[in-house]
Amino acid sequence: MSEADTSFVPQLDARQRAMLAEMGVRVWAPRPVAATAPAQNETAKAAVAAPAPVVARAAPVAPPASAAPARAVAPAAPTVAAPVADVAQVPRIAGVELMDWATLRDTVAGCTACGLCQGRKNTVFGVGDQQADWMIVGEAPGENEDRLGEPFVGAAGQLLDNMLRAVGRSRSGQGAQGSYIANVIKCRPPANRNPQPDEVARCEPYLARQVALVQPKVIVAMGRFAVQSLLKTNEPIGRLRGKVHRYEGVPVIVSYHPAYLLRTPGDKAKAWADLCLAMDTLENA
Ligand code: URA
Repeated sequence: MSEADTSFVPQLDARQRAMLAEMGVRVWAPRPVAATAPAQNETAKAAVAAPAPVVARAAPVAPPASAAPARAVAPAAPTVAAPVADVAQVPRIAGVELMDWATLRDTVAGCTACGLCQGRKNTVFGVGDQQADWMIVGEAPGENEDRLGEPFVGAAGQLLDNMLRAVGRSRSGQGAQGSYIANVIKCRPPANRNPQPDEVARCEPYLARQVALVQPKVIVAMGRFAVQSLLKTNEPIGRLRGKVHRYEGVPVIVSYHPAYLLRTPGDKAKAWADLCLAMDTLENA
């Protein structure tokens, strides 16, 4: 397609443009025509319908000065593999798979299954619409999350909020505007170190139950710990992206962790493509 061919260019609203700019994606589009503006859902769909590479070019942008990763030790580069926990070797917390939301939340709040409970201020359970069709899975709480008891509230969380906004969703929205956000690990690892395999394995039933209760139509797994936990693979993120994987029958889209994107803004365009794939997957579910 030549650059002059605008037939695949989506009409994006100001919010989506801001998000794409944030993600380092430069969008070329004709001047808006003085016609009825499409509804927000339609613009979001238009963004998905057009393959990202056709309409967007990645342009590395410097992260804003305030965009330091929330976690002092941000998730490692996504090409580095870490051992996947041998879940079979770890004693399971009884009955998690039958718990309702209230019991699950209380159980997590009182969990002492691993040493992370010793250093936590709060457990970080999850946030969002418990019936959302769209679920985000991250890694583990950092300092801000530990203090506030809510996932993704630091700099990485701001980027995640922007990414959600770009697909017409938020952590407080409901239904088609909603999402549910949870981490693999519910307690902050000391000094924000990487979670250990046994910690992942002990915490895993909680995430599994959250997924079973939410019953999302798509999961976006952000970062290698989310990916390893859900997909049980050591494959690097770069090799898993762009395909639809499955966790307990639910489609899983693999993407980069927002903290990684803050350090590597050149990859934000790929993350946008991942969100588009997630939207596409949801639409076809
Ligand atoms: N990184 C995560 O993976 N989860 C959070 O809640 C915060 C930072």
